[in-house]
Amino acid sequence: MLVIIKENYDEMSKEAAKQVAALVRKKPDCVIGFATGSTPLGLYKELIRMHKEEGLDFSKITTFNLDEYVGLPPEHPQSYHYFMWENLFNHINVNPSNVYIPMGMADDIDAFCEWYENKIKEVGGIDLQILGIGANGHIAFNEPGSSLGSRTRIKTLTEKTRQDNARFFSSMEEVPKYAITMGVGTIMEARRLLLLASGTSKAEAIRATVEGPIMAKYPATIVQLHRYATVIIDKDAASKLEADYS
Ligand code: F6R
Repeated sequence: MLVIIKENYDEMSKEAAKQVAALVRKKPDCVIGFATGSTPLGLYKELIRMHKEEGLDFSKITTFNLDEYVGLPPEHPQSYHYFMWENLFNHINVNPSNVYIPMGMADDIDAFCEWYENKIKEVGGIDLQILGIGANGHIAFNEPGSSLGSRTRIKTLTEKTRQDNARFFSSMEEVPKYAITMGVGTIMEARRLLLLASGTSKAEAIRATVEGPIMAKYPATIVQLHRYATVIIDKDAASKLEADYS
């Protein structure tokens, strides 16, 4: 695992963008796995800048997102579809027919999850998966206790996650109870992982992920077994690490 510690959020985002851009230049038809949440927003902003100012070309990439709420239509402002178009896809030249985000409105969710897994295989697998991390060590919606071999499936959101996300909805009742998420096993099959974290609220999860034992209590710890995992964090998120990563 390669650990890169940057001075602040901005530097973390720029380093991540540099790595994503290098892949897009080297392999224009690469497959990128995207995450939502506040952590990758700086990375997405930088990718948009690179597209607009440096002509970084996304026209041949294929994208897969990690997760989506069940029951929210793509046009719902809190859906991850909406998030991705608003914060990235509308501002770069991605081909909409190469964008895959779990369908929270699918009639048959199990069938959809199988289709999603097959689609990833059909395009040759994910070259680079971008990941954030929850303060409790979750990746995507794989909460503590998730099977480390899990595949794309429907998950019940924990009360804590629903409460954390309630700020984005007008009432607690409106917060979805379920989500579709790539599994830990699905994520581990990506050829490269790029895990980002910033701020002291992530320091404990980062300590467990980078230096702790591998355990289902912190699903992110499994990335220690990945051959090509890069963790890019700021100094605050790195504040509980003991080894020297300079
Ligand atoms: C998002 C996702 C989540 C977030 C995590 C961190 O697609 O799968 O696991 O990466 O909850 O969220 P932020 O970045 O908002 O702290």
